[in-house]
Amino acid sequence: MFKSILSAALVISVFSACHPKQKNVEKTMHNIDHHSFAKPEEAVVKHLKLDLNVDFASKQLSGYAELSIDNLGKVNTLHLDTRDLTIDSVWLDDNMPTSFELGKPVEFLGSDLAIAIKPTTKKVRVKYSTSPDAAAVQWLSPEQTAGGKTPFLFTQSQAILARTWIPLQDSPGVRFTYSATITCPPDLMAVMSAENDTVLHADGKYNFNMPQAIPSYLMALAVGNFKFHAYDNRSGVFAEPVTLDKAANEFIDLPKMIAAAEELYGPYAWGRYDVLVLPPSFPFGGMENPRITFATPTILAGDRSLVSLIAHELAHSWSGNLVTNATWDDFWLNEGFTVYFETRIMEKLYGKDYADMLTVLSKGELENTIKELGDKNPDSHLYLNLKDRDPDDGMSDIAYEKGRFFLTTIEMAVGREKWDAFLKKYFAEHAFQSITTDVFLDYLNKELIHDDAALKSKINIDAWVFGPGLPANCPVITSKALDMAGTAAEQFKKGTPAKDLVVEGWNTHQWLYFLRQLPEKMEEKQMKDLDAAFHFTASGNAEIKCDWLLHTINSQYKEGYKALDEFLCHVGRRKFVRPLFEAMIATPEGKEMAKAIYVKARSGYHAVTMQTIDDMLK
Ligand code: BES
Ligand code: ZN
Repeated sequence: MFKSILSAALVISVFSACHPKQKNVEKTMHNIDHHSFAKPEEAVVKHLKLDLNVDFASKQLSGYAELSIDNLGKVNTLHLDTRDLTIDSVWLDDNMPTSFELGKPVEFLGSDLAIAIKPTTKKVRVKYSTSPDAAAVQWLSPEQTAGGKTPFLFTQSQAILARTWIPLQDSPGVRFTYSATITCPPDLMAVMSAENDTVLHADGKYNFNMPQAIPSYLMALAVGNFKFHAYDNRSGVFAEPVTLDKAANEFIDLPKMIAAAEELYGPYAWGRYDVLVLPPSFPFGGMENPRITFATPTILAGDRSLVSLIAHELAHSWSGNLVTNATWDDFWLNEGFTVYFETRIMEKLYGKDYADMLTVLSKGELENTIKELGDKNPDSHLYLNLKDRDPDDGMSDIAYEKGRFFLTTIEMAVGREKWDAFLKKYFAEHAFQSITTDVFLDYLNKELIHDDAALKSKINIDAWVFGPGLPANCPVITSKALDMAGTAAEQFKKGTPAKDLVVEGWNTHQWLYFLRQLPEKMEEKQMKDLDAAFHFTASGNAEIKCDWLLHTINSQYKEGYKALDEFLCHVGRRKFVRPLFEAMIATPEGKEMAKAIYVKARSGYHAVTMQTIDDMLK
């Protein structure tokens, strides 16, 4: 009875927030998270208290999750998301045992944990343990770390993997504060997406507190042997001791990045901002866990050329962590805004030419993605429909780069000054809220477009947000530095020997552009010539190496096969691993090679990368 009244209320409120041009029927769906069993409109989690023991021998986290709830609808059941968790027992309030039922597992989503509660229930305490295969968690042996002596553990909760290590309402539309006690082996340190100590605790016990409400996908834990290097009183870097100096040197501009971000869009809201450098199996480039970004070591190029990734994760402290996509269909609100913001930070620190160079490179990647998707594919809309799918499947360059170019289009239409003022106000007025695409579009119209018909048609919101591909008004950005690299590639294609190309002083991005302008398949002679002149096979820059290894595969350049094998057995970052396997399986011989490499590499990959490559090779 309560249920129907509540859902009716939800539909009405969504109706009234509608963009006038859109169909109402479609709009009623926008607030519904297809990827969660939770019913936060009935009873919602406000605070989580975790008490977990970290056991490397059994690869398990076990202990208690105590959830403080607001039983809005005075309902008798609380629905939580779980996946592969063993639920031992559940208590209400002051230790009153209660019954629970774990639903049948659904692909990607896991099982609905339905707990019997009372209309007056304030606290629900769950005793549970994780599976050794919990998809969020990677347990690394000492050999898989840089130091080689102690094990390592890290979690990756986005998009819907938090439920594999904590029973909770795993929806980005639900925000809660948390505190945690983590007990780990005494020689290791634990950190979380919360207030952190920067020193080792001899008893292996760490207490954390996150006083600001966050969505579940920002829950994060890492345990390992790391040390801390402070830049100033609010930022620093954690890394394994053997990597710390390199990392500290690479990210030296971190305090300037934070200052630039604040100048652009308002004060940093989270207290400290630190970076934790993970082992190379980390499946992403970076993850914006609040207060402590998790980052791949593959950005430690030695010349600070890949630090835009740090600007990106930092920017999420506003776009994503402060103003959050309400569902994964609204993912572009997180990533598109963040790429835009990242580019503005880069421009402030290193100048417009540098930022434009990064933008032109990214646009090339976006155009490739659109080509692969085809010109009518709904996955190339900014607003996605991920119902009945793993959200991971729909998350592509579209949200990131089409999202960024949409925002750049608005900036160019209204002018930077107005646009920046709008964005600053947008972050301030939606801080600590999870919002839908519609809420953003309504706010945009109310604050900036004011129903101005000429401006509307100039921007063409519908084509950007609800249409496929790249709209005709997409901004054109150019880069002289990249044009130079493009010219050199043309000369090489026409027969100029590699050693005669003018490449002096080139940076990483110019090399990447050069490699991307070369033919997909080259003669052995050409590959050898390039390698002899520029030593690509031996490159220590993971981005350059990955592009070169793609050529190695496509051109069947056997001299590079050993490096390919080593790279794939060492690095688990999906952005690199996926295209390399894709290129290999395009030919029968390559597929055999892919299988042979994967047999060795698979056990070192995090579940996210493993899933992608398993699907590809099946
Ligand atoms: N939040 C993302 C990573 C993510 C997205 C994890 C979706 C799981 C699901 C992070 O901010 C990100 O975008 N990382 C990028 C780097 C960035 C510079 C484009 C990555 O990992 O490559
Ligand atoms: Zn991001």
